[in-house]
Amino acid sequence: MTNGIVKKAALGTGLFLLAALAAFAQKDPKDLFLDKCATCHGPDGMAKTAKGKKLKVTDVKTAAGKVSAAEMEKIVADGKGQDMDGFGKELSKDQMKGVVEYFRSLAK
Ligand code: HEC
Repeated sequence: MTNGIVKKAALGTGLFLLAALAAFAQKDPKDLFLDKCATCHGPDGMAKTAKGKKLKVTDVKTAAGKVSAAEMEKIVADGKGQDMDGFGKELSKDQMKGVVEYFRSLAK
């Protein structure tokens, strides 16, 4: 009898951990960047993709020298010009912060 309860409890914990892991994976800045930004900015931040070239996206090395992290977070939230939409509604503040950190790390 007690054995069954223990098994159920263990299963519950396992599912909880899986759910927590899934939530964590979704928030990983690198995944977010590859998912939401890389079509234009390139997986390496150098904007060498078809879309990046077409929209004349600045490569991350140049951008990181000109634009501070705080300004970048604002750009990610509000968008820039006609070609980049803001992500303020889609991503949390922490996610935007993380994705900017990841983006800037590509400049090094
Ligand atoms: C549809 C294409 C597109 C997508 C998707 C996109 N961007 Fe942009 N991004 C642009 C364009 C175009 C600009 C303006 C040109 C420029 O300054 O490089 C820009 C500018 C920026 C800038 C300012 C850099 C600068 O040079 O002034 C940052 C930071 C940035 N994007 C980050 C992101 C992040 C982070 C994501 C994903 C959450 C993202 N972008 C998604 C096209 C895009």
